[in-house]
Amino acid sequence: MALLKLESVSLTYPGDERPAIDNLTLRIDQGELLAVVGPSGCGKSSTISLLAGLTPATSGLLTLHDSPILTPGPDRAVVFQDYSLFPWMTALDNIIFALQESGRFTGKAAIAEANKLLDMVGLSSYSQKYPSELSGGMRQRVAIARAFALDAPVYLMDEPFGAVDAKNRVTLQDLLLKLWGGEGNKKTVFLVTHDIDEALYLADRIAVFTPGPGRVLKIIDVPFPRPRRRFFLVQDPRYIALRNEILSLLQKEILEELQQVEGGAGI
Ligand SMILES: Nc1ncnc2c1ncn2[C@@H]1O[C@H](COP(=O)(O)OP(=O)(O)O)[C@@H](O)[C@H]1O
Ligand SMILES: [Mg+2]
Repeated sequence: MALLKLESVSLTYPGDERPAIDNLTLRIDQGELLAVVGPSGCGKSSTISLLAGLTPATSGLLTLHDSPILTPGPDRAVVFQDYSLFPWMTALDNIIFALQESGRFTGKAAIAEANKLLDMVGLSSYSQKYPSELSGGMRQRVAIARAFALDAPVYLMDEPFGAVDAKNRVTLQDLLLKLWGGEGNKKTVFLVTHDIDEALYLADRIAVFTPGPGRVLKIIDVPFPRPRRRFFLVQDPRYIALRNEILSLLQKEILEELQQVEGGAGI
């Protein structure tokens, strides 16, 4: 059953002529992990912002459980591209705050759980650091631990591992899978990524966006059973074929867009 729906959604930012999103229709099932890939500027972050209830659509309808999305809510945890941490709180306090906000932990239990989450993202020795004292990748890991602490039914993640180094990225991807599939109560995840291998490793379906204004060019079903094993996956001929298909979709669209721009400019 579709949990999140975008029906003919368009978004033009005030003052902009060109829409950022144009007639986007997309359904995300309960418990699904949907990845979105697309060229930069195609409206991926704007889609997250709409789903988060931070930006109103210019037209069309967004719903969660068939109720219109009008405001942010505790039912949706967002991991932004640019780390959504409170700069005046230590790494640990950022997570404790999220745990208290989720209503699941208070007092000593919240401190213990926050330490556990920081440990999960490999940052137990940085608990007393403020965001400004951490590297970009570390801040991103705290932001992910903070999002996990919220334990929301829906996760909206905007290139959450983009700033993280390769080794930690692999660990965090597996943590995300654990969070997603844990305790018989599957989360619904909308994951924007520029990493095709990440999308193929994590997702049930991949929505390839056109170069913009944002629309779905193609939905790809990822056929690999779970648990997936990276080593075998990347050697599977179907994996290689899907990877090539996505790459060529992205390249073809970018080339056509460039040709149109050049043609339009009379070059
Ligand atoms: N707050 C904003 N105000 C005006 N225009 C914006 C804003 N955010 C994004 N845009 C524009 O909307 C388009 C889509 O941007 P974005 O959603 O950030 O794309 P992506 O995340 O795919 O790179 C771009 O042309 C961008 O310049
Ligand atoms: Mg973006």
